[in-house]
Amino acid sequence: MTVSSAPGKVYLFGEHAVVYGEPAVPCAIERRARVTVDARDDGRLRVQAADLTLDGFTVEYSGDAGGAPDVDVPSGLVRAAMGYIDGAVSQARDAANQPDAGFDITIESAIPLGAGLGSSAAVVVAAIDAATRELGVELTNEQLADRAYQVELDVQDGQASRADTFCSAMGGAVRVEGDDCRTIDAPDNLPFVIGYDGGAGDTGVLVAGVRKLREEYDFAANTVSAIGDIVRHGEQALADGNIEELGRLMNFNHGLLEALGVSSRSLDTMVWAARDADALGAKLTGAGGGGCIVALDETDATATALRFTMGCEDAFRAELDTEGVRVEEP
Ligand code: MEV
Repeated sequence: MTVSSAPGKVYLFGEHAVVYGEPAVPCAIERRARVTVDARDDGRLRVQAADLTLDGFTVEYSGDAGGAPDVDVPSGLVRAAMGYIDGAVSQARDAANQPDAGFDITIESAIPLGAGLGSSAAVVVAAIDAATRELGVELTNEQLADRAYQVELDVQDGQASRADTFCSAMGGAVRVEGDDCRTIDAPDNLPFVIGYDGGAGDTGVLVAGVRKLREEYDFAANTVSAIGDIVRHGEQALADGNIEELGRLMNFNHGLLEALGVSSRSLDTMVWAARDADALGAKLTGAGGGGCIVALDETDATATALRFTMGCEDAFRAELDTEGVRVEEP
């Protein structure tokens, strides 16, 4: 039995624009997905998932992508979750050159599914790590990030950046621009506060919406480039430890994401609740459409205000997690 975990993340800056080659800066947070893998001899897969903001489900199937699991939970969510897990299993089989390997897989995640905190990347990175180790192969974090990216690319119809998977594999703050991925220095006491509306967005649909706008209007393409400019300023603010400037830039970034149509009423309401509570800045994180915002506030005011905000289901402080994927005690 092998257990691996990998962190979720927030985007300080640059989601969506990163899909078109602009830089982005995601930061890993101390909320992890934990994946337990047992190799089995009969080539079958048994997947048990808990806490994926579903009630939890168990499926056993032949493991080829055509073998649809028969379970009584919303099929879209299960299809997406199973797509990521199937992809992770294929990558592990390929890395270990054992195409017929079977697995019992248990997923426990403290990261809400599809809510902008990188749940799928964390599950995929941890699953590939645990499954390859179970087959006697140890991949580097960079190799894990690359294989996890191939899975996201597949499941998201070719529309994914390396940002989520690289951040989850490496931990800490990272900078991603196209294929150029690196870890960067960041103050380890960034005062992240997260607000969660209990919902989720469909990354594929949201990315396709931005793509269409960008193709249709020069000003939308310019908006995407302007997000890249914000990220470049943000990198300097991060290097200087200038948290006030980070906050101002986050507010600007949120405005541009809103203009690109990926915010929602509940995300905007949470952003404004954070600003009214004197957060240094606030923005949606991830694909948008619903899910989470991230704010910067050293005090408890933002978390308290969010808890009293209509549409906010949960608010919590999140620390930067400097550790990426790691092996856990069973
Ligand atoms: C989703 O977490 C982030 C997006 O930028 C898509 C991607 O980078 O793959 C919207």
